[in-house]
Amino acid sequence: MQFEGKVALVTGSGRGIGRAIALRLAEEGADLVINFFRNRKPAEETAEVIRSLKRRAIVVKANVGDIDGIDALFNATEKEYGGLDILVCNAASGYNRPALKQKPKGWDWTMNINARSLLFSAQHAARLMQPRGGGHIVSISSPGSFRVLPDYVVVGASKAALEALTRYLAVEFSPLGIVVNAVSPGIVETDALKYFDTLKDGNVIPQAIAATPAGRLVKPEDVAGLVAFLCSPDASMIRGQIIIIDGGYILPAQGVTVELPES
Ligand SMILES: NC(=O)c1ccc[n+]([C@@H]2O[C@H](COP(=O)([O-])OP(=O)(O)OC[C@H]3O[C@@H](n4cnc5c(N)ncnc54)[C@H](OP(=O)(O)O)[C@@H]3O)[C@@H](O)[C@H]2O)c1
Repeated sequence: MQFEGKVALVTGSGRGIGRAIALRLAEEGADLVINFFRNRKPAEETAEVIRSLKRRAIVVKANVGDIDGIDALFNATEKEYGGLDILVCNAASGYNRPALKQKPKGWDWTMNINARSLLFSAQHAARLMQPRGGGHIVSISSPGSFRVLPDYVVVGASKAALEALTRYLAVEFSPLGIVVNAVSPGIVETDALKYFDTLKDGNVIPQAIAATPAGRLVKPEDVAGLVAFLCSPDASMIRGQIIIIDGGYILPAQGVTVELPES
């Protein structure tokens, strides 16, 4: 129970990868702040699972793309727990369309939720972590920060900004005892992906598996395990890094095929 007595805040933790991260941190002893924006029900259900593990959990509705929302989220955390040890910036949103169809409103929306939120959440986190001798901040990025994915231009730019912020914060927060890193998952087997797969006649997931040297897709629990490791003492000398977790998907050069054994 390496996180016993620790308080963790995971943004966007009612469902998907954020939920898996919150559950993993709770399984390892942390009390949680579950944050949602639009979907209260899954957030309340996630909190119930955490309470069934005999950990504390509060549910806070807040839009992390809004500065007042961030202030409210951290004020609720401070009121309930009096401090913070782990911050995971997982929430993301975005206007997915080609560059020529992007609008300033979509840019602002995406950048504010995916990138600006890290900077201003980190300011609160520093205030709440410093009296406890430090803490950990982990952000969830995406390989779209440096690879060109369809309709991903603005989200990709926001993830590139998130990664740059991760490096700056890692250096500036090190004297405060705060370890800052990011995790960059490849294609993760979420409910959204399974739904997308059915829309595409069930071709998307098998093709992605065939292109993955590890022979399967990344699961939300894989990402959660990596986040937990980055928040552990064993990872304390990893600073400002963006750790890709994709089963090797990104590695083969064009023309190199992945030979998977017959199953
Ligand atoms: N899934 C993948 O294959 C994949 C790959 C690479 C990177 N990632 C990254 O992993 C993270 C999680 O992805 P996911 O697939 O689990 O996402 P998801 O299923 O789309 O869920 C997004 C989460 O973020 C929350 N959220 C959205 N806008 C928010 C806002 N303004 N304020 C607070 N919360 C907000 C949502 O809350 P509500 O439900 O309340 O709206 C939800 O919990 C993201 O950073 C994503 O970019 C995912």
